[in-house]
Amino acid sequence: MRLDVITIFPDYLAPLDLSLIGKARRDRLIDLHVHDLRDFTHDRHRTVDDTPYGGGAGMVMRPEPWGEALDHVLAAGAADDASAAVPHLLVPGPSGVPFTQAMARRLALEPWLAFACGRYEGIDERVYDEARRHLPVTSVSLGDYVLNGGEVAVLAMVEAIARLVPGVVGNAESLVEESHEDGLLEYPVYTKPAEWRGHPVPEVLLSGHHGKVARWRRDERLRRTAERRPDMLAALGEDGLDAADHEVLRRFRAERPAVAD
Ligand code: ADE
Repeated sequence: MRLDVITIFPDYLAPLDLSLIGKARRDRLIDLHVHDLRDFTHDRHRTVDDTPYGGGAGMVMRPEPWGEALDHVLAAGAADDASAAVPHLLVPGPSGVPFTQAMARRLALEPWLAFACGRYEGIDERVYDEARRHLPVTSVSLGDYVLNGGEVAVLAMVEAIARLVPGVVGNAESLVEESHEDGLLEYPVYTKPAEWRGHPVPEVLLSGHHGKVARWRRDERLRRTAERRPDMLAALGEDGLDAADHEVLRRFRAERPAVAD
């Protein structure tokens, strides 16, 4: 998978040299290219922003450097791999569609992604209009809060996407039973020692009884999801839960009437 990131802070992306993603790059599973937007300016001050038409607070990113940077990314990608079509351009920002595990799964199947990191009040809208003539473009938000720029969001998205690329995570099984993979949050986990500072590990986990362990884990996933993310349980609907699940939830709710349906 090829990834291109355009930013005025290339150093922000340095953590992508570390850990599993760093190893995936060294193993050539991920081909990451970070581009400095200021390299596509032509004035002495390497200016990337200007005041907004219509007035208002803050500055807007000028279209010309973005146009040149995107042209460069398209040409560089095509030169490296003649079979590459065009990248899917992702633009992080608080006005985007929510970034989810389902979206990460879909994006992990794509051969080429490009990320445009905006700063200030955003990028001149004509950059999107122009890019859409050549590429799929999606504005994506990590959540309902405002970051100073897209770089931190790109770190999060690249990590979520790249770990789903085959070979990046050694034990593919560890990807299956995760929060957000099947509509329930993960169960709590424990390791040795069996008792620590007066806290014992739940006995069922020491029983060696696989059926009971599986049921306990499912119950804990249901309980957590009901407590922390009632919206996810509602989205799962009737079909995602069996009779035993419903009984467990009924008991949790009876114990804790404050938990929403
Ligand atoms: N840039 C600024 N805020 C953001 C958010 N919530 N998600 C993604 N990118 C952002």
